[in-house]
Amino acid sequence: MTRHHPSLAWRVAPLLGLIGLGGALASCTTDVWGPDELLRGSSSREAATLKRGREQYSLYCVGCHGENGDGEGQAARFLDPKPRDFRKGRVKFAAVPAGTLPRDEDLLVTINHGLNGTSMPSWKLIGEEDKRAIVAYIKTFSEVWQKETPGAVVAVKPDPWRKHPERGIEEGEKVYHGLAACSSCHPAYVTMPTIAEHMKAYEITLTGFRPDQYASVEKDSDWGAPIRPPDFLIDRTKSATTKDELVRVIAAGVGGTAMPSWGATLTHQQLWGLAYYVESLIQKRDSAEGYAMKKAMADQPAWNPPPPPPPAPEPPPAATAAPSASASAGAAPPAKPLTAPKGK
Ligand code: HEC
Ligand code: HEC
Repeated sequence: MTRHHPSLAWRVAPLLGLIGLGGALASCTTDVWGPDELLRGSSSREAATLKRGREQYSLYCVGCHGENGDGEGQAARFLDPKPRDFRKGRVKFAAVPAGTLPRDEDLLVTINHGLNGTSMPSWKLIGEEDKRAIVAYIKTFSEVWQKETPGAVVAVKPDPWRKHPERGIEEGEKVYHGLAACSSCHPAYVTMPTIAEHMKAYEITLTGFRPDQYASVEKDSDWGAPIRPPDFLIDRTKSATTKDELVRVIAAGVGGTAMPSWGATLTHQQLWGLAYYVESLIQKRDSAEGYAMKKAMADQPAWNPPPPPPPAPEPPPAATAAPSASASAGAAPPAKPLTAPKGK
């Protein structure tokens, strides 16, 4: 049992007694896609890998992810968030755009790292071959692994702020509250006048704030329950804590959740700026400094955005402009409307 993950033995061991070693899988009905279907016509090498994957899965994963990969293992009812349902053929965290088929490498990253703040542990200590076999086996739970090809890795250019981390953080703060409005789901971390300033930098007109601008907004998800976006000063992020990991999750998004892929919308300066900024917040998580920041935001004086500029004037209808041609000679147009359109 050298491959056994020591810190997990206590969690998984009681479940194994209840479940047995995956024998129930053999009873899959024929209309359900599964390893038996996949094995038809496959080489003995593939068959051996899947057999090994099934054994390893039954040992380490079945208690949470379930015999059929449906995320309904014996322990699942006690867990929040729930274990992934592999029959969907989709995951949350990958280097491919959210919503596309993940690559084996993406599954391996999650298996090796686990997901912070959830019951999904790190399985780093399982042997390399065995992990690959588990991945091959997980992919038998949905036909999409046979039918689709994985998404293209979200390209992330080299870090442009390496020599000027402070400027990276500044850029990120501006994009976060201004251009990308990350704070429409995640909390804001700067005062209301500063949010207005950041929006103005992108010529976005601020019309107001949401009711609790300094807390997260719970959002629907495809995973059976709504999900609250993390408050970086309080909650753990699941897949990413360093800026290299953060830039990936920001660019790729989080599959099946409201967290969009930003890779195609933002420049690499902006993406990396966000990674620097979010990292700077994460470093203050659960610290006196972080709580002081939250308190300062809660205690700030009431503030209302300045009234929006007056709407652009209607251009005079052509029909009325023409008849007055006789008067046009010395007639100056009203002063005000000429300047107004520039602002918008
Ligand atoms: C103690 C319970 C538990 C065990 C045991 C467990 N997992 Fe998980 N796993 C979870 C939970 C919970 C999630 C979902 C977390 C979330 O949605 O944020 C998850 C998610 C995953 C995901 C998907 C991540 C994503 O991006 O959507 C993969 C892949 C995965 N687990 C693989 C495994 C493998 C392989 C094993 C066995 C080696 C295993 N898990 C064992 C609880 C567990
Ligand atoms: C429409 C809502 C929405 C917007 C806008 C949004 N997010 Fe998210 N974000 C979410 C949700 C929901 C999650 C939680 C996913 C989970 O935990 O399963 C999340 C998670 C994250 C995570 C944590 C990933 C992890 O590994 O746990 C980071 C980092 C993040 N968002 C950054 C950003 C940044 C930066 C922006 C702006 C560019 C942004 N988000 C905009 C909804 C949103």
